[in-house]
Amino acid sequence: MSNDVGLQQMLDVAVAAAREAGALQKQKLWGDFTFSFKGEVDIVTEVDRACEEMIVNRIRSAFPSHSFLAEENLYADGDPAWRWVIDPLDGTTNYAHGFPWFCVSIALEQDGELTLGAIYHCMMDELFTTIRGGGAFLNGAPIHVSSRKPLRQSLIATGFPYDAARGNENNFRNFFELQLAARGVRRAGAAALDLAYVAAGRLDGYWECKLKPWDVAAGALLVREAGGTVTNHKGEPHRIDDHRILATNGLIHDEIETLLERAERAEPVL
Ligand code: IPD
Ligand code: CA
Ligand code: CA
Repeated sequence: MSNDVGLQQMLDVAVAAAREAGALQKQKLWGDFTFSFKGEVDIVTEVDRACEEMIVNRIRSAFPSHSFLAEENLYADGDPAWRWVIDPLDGTTNYAHGFPWFCVSIALEQDGELTLGAIYHCMMDELFTTIRGGGAFLNGAPIHVSSRKPLRQSLIATGFPYDAARGNENNFRNFFELQLAARGVRRAGAAALDLAYVAAGRLDGYWECKLKPWDVAAGALLVREAGGTVTNHKGEPHRIDDHRILATNGLIHDEIETLLERAERAEPVL
């Protein structure tokens, strides 16, 4: 069996898991579910936890030796050569408020390299998939980043950390600079979807700070495979444990990077 056939089978399992979790998210949205606090404003719902259990169980039954890095739980050691990186519900604040903008994000690393990814937005029934070296797809059709430039004509996106009111890296100065320089900046509340939208050319760029590996793993690979550029805020190649990400169509990358470097050297807004 060639590696590609093996990877396609792994992607199929990831897709089945993402669809199953997405179906639960759709079914429970606008209904009753419990939640608890992780921080002052940061919450987790019973749906996040149920989705994670579903996804991990499904992947584990197909690949019992693999290891997992997922948002809501720690998992016993598996083979570190194959590591699944999972955000069972990206956009939890939206979900908990009934704002229908959230997704499932599943990626796989092979020997520390992102190898495949699946992002499922159940409310739009949109499935974004990628295998390294094989391009990026939306519901099976190839997608590509936009060809829009300069930044002044571009639509970009960002997000803010849960501790923005108290943290020292609240992204407000960056937002101020970029809002003045771009056509518009959107803040929709699901990092994985922001990245998927850059890959699909619906957004021209996206940056954020203080992210976790599960927020960005699948989306970063999607953007690269869709022809885009993904770095940290210094222009260095992005690794999933970098907290800062800049993902663009490549054509407005330098413009945003210059503004971010300037903003991050300036006095914070708060
Ligand atoms: C959050 C979302 C949000 C981003 C936050 C993330 P969660 O993930 O991706 O867009 O701004 O930084 O933590 O908590 O909804 O999985
Ligand atoms: Ca997330
Ligand atoms: Ca999450």
